[in-house]
Amino acid sequence: MKSPIPDYLGRVLEEARPFDSGQPASYIDVLAQADTSRSAVAVATVDGSVYSAGDDEVDFSIQSISKPFVYALAIQDQGLAYVLEKVGVEPSGDAFNRLSLETGTNRPMNPMINAGAVAAHALVVSTNATVDQRVDRILQALSRLAGRQLKVDEAVYAAELKDANRNMGLAYMLKAAGMISCDPQEAVRGYIRQCSINVNVRDLAMMAATLSNGGVQPVSGERVISQESVRQVLSVMTTCGMYNSSGDWIASVGIPAKSGVSGGIIGALPGQLGLAVFSPRLDEKGNSVRGVIMCKQLSNDMGFHMM
Ligand code: DON
Repeated sequence: MKSPIPDYLGRVLEEARPFDSGQPASYIDVLAQADTSRSAVAVATVDGSVYSAGDDEVDFSIQSISKPFVYALAIQDQGLAYVLEKVGVEPSGDAFNRLSLETGTNRPMNPMINAGAVAAHALVVSTNATVDQRVDRILQALSRLAGRQLKVDEAVYAAELKDANRNMGLAYMLKAAGMISCDPQEAVRGYIRQCSINVNVRDLAMMAATLSNGGVQPVSGERVISQESVRQVLSVMTTCGMYNSSGDWIASVGIPAKSGVSGGIIGALPGQLGLAVFSPRLDEKGNSVRGVIMCKQLSNDMGFHMM
């Protein structure tokens, strides 16, 4: 029997389509030119079924949605205790590109803001690894999570690198605070490459479903993320994943999530499923306008809210 889920997802998408406020991210010129009609939604269950609707084969750069997965790799490569010395777990309440160092410890507040993500990136493999070693580790891990070989979008990488003064500034401050040990420019180059990896909503739903499945990729059966990392990552996604609208998100949608400036959002409902949405127009907090609407609808209809 044909599953009714794709038709349902198609309806959710069509109901979100009339919402055309917001603009694509303007600070990276390749993203500013994004086709704003693009919209997609996908759900992957922990037993490996994937359902999707809309522009589900359109690739876009993963951007900040890479952050929870790279945080997981940092924990695996360095141990949680060491990572906690360098990156905190408190919501900053500020925009994602603010420095937000914690008073007293000097740690960036959490790994979902840029400062914390650059610090987490610099911990992958080892503190003296090269950019290529880190990016290769990240690219291979994200590919295993998605279930296909992913690649860096060189145009997005070049566009972001040529205007990276703000992230460079954050990285120099991290270096001055003793939170990264490598060259700040190398940390930012690697971080921007990590953000420039291309994915589609089906990839992202499967990556989120791996988190929901305790770190085991539902289709391959491979453990890609340790149980300890998954717990830490989902906790931080719950409190910090949607930037300074994390509180509104958790009250209204009610699942751990992460958004990115190219218009993607993932959500992970532990033990059940991963979901992903995509549409390039962003609200003032940097979250996809149609994406948030679709997630609210899915959560309401399907009772995803954890409470
Ligand atoms: O660091 C940056 O500015 C981007 N490469 C990633 C930011 C991002 O996706 C934040 N999302 N809302």
